[in-house]
Amino acid sequence: MIEQTLSTEAFRRDVLTGLGQTPKMLPCKYLYDEAGSELFDQICDLDEYYLTRTELAIMQEHAGSIAQQIDRDVMLVEYGSGSSVKTQILLDALVDPVAYVPVDISEEHLLRTAERLRSQYPKMEVLPVVADFTQPFALPQPASPYSHVALYFPGSTIGNFTQDQASHILRSMSRLLQRGSGLLIGIDLQKDVGAILRAYDDGQGVTARFSLNLLNRINQELEADFDLSRFEHSAVYNDRQHRVEISIVSRRDQVVTIGAEEISFAREEPILTEYSHKYTVDGFARLAEPHGFQMHRYWTDDAQQFALLHLVLGEEMQ
Ligand code: TRP
Repeated sequence: MIEQTLSTEAFRRDVLTGLGQTPKMLPCKYLYDEAGSELFDQICDLDEYYLTRTELAIMQEHAGSIAQQIDRDVMLVEYGSGSSVKTQILLDALVDPVAYVPVDISEEHLLRTAERLRSQYPKMEVLPVVADFTQPFALPQPASPYSHVALYFPGSTIGNFTQDQASHILRSMSRLLQRGSGLLIGIDLQKDVGAILRAYDDGQGVTARFSLNLLNRINQELEADFDLSRFEHSAVYNDRQHRVEISIVSRRDQVVTIGAEEISFAREEPILTEYSHKYTVDGFARLAEPHGFQMHRYWTDDAQQFALLHLVLGEEMQ
């Protein structure tokens, strides 16, 4: 298939570019091939990985008041494919939602979810948009009138971007939305560092397998010879930046072949795969404020591990 060849070429280019940089890095989106997605599902079921479970519990407990804040006759836009249980709970709680717009780069997954939601919510228009939300894109126009737009960005995915990138995303959100539009966003809160680190390096080694699976994928798809026993998963908390820095570390000096290229690794040299920033509610409000977003309300769990924030777009200042 041509598409397959093209994406393999893009993968090769991204891998070689990332490993050619200092420090070395690999884009986190490549963690999620079939095996990776399965391992990530297992991560979400781990006792240590509190994020998914907690965000779902917050949605289950507060769906009514969240829906009330968002208000009736909304066009709900979601960054993500909308396949999650949380989305369904929200859609069930909303009063007469006019349209639902999932925005995702994975067309196949997006269209499959859209089809399912259409049959489940026959009175609501489902208008999927294939787009990368970090780049400008346009919102579709529903056939029926709606009163306002609300944007749902779950999963603390915003935490996987640096503060500058997050700020950029908030700015593009403010351009996409109109005054009075809402933003419902999930953020993982700052907490005991031990608890955070256990979520990113569990006792059973599922996260380590997820992380190293990326090297497996490179071996299989790009004819490389990474020896997985010579690398290890690492999750370190950066106190100053309030983020987990997830990387794959070389256990020794070694040379790896990827197709015709040779890549050298020094002992202890890391390949950065992902950041996961942790916020405070106030800290996030301060990040969003210059882009015109005002905090209206937030919901959290008893242990204050995770929060769902509702911000409303007022006057844009930047
Ligand atoms: N977006 C997830 C998070 O920040 C991704 C994630 C969880 C992850 N565990 C990981 C990414 C381990 C790489 C390695 O929580």
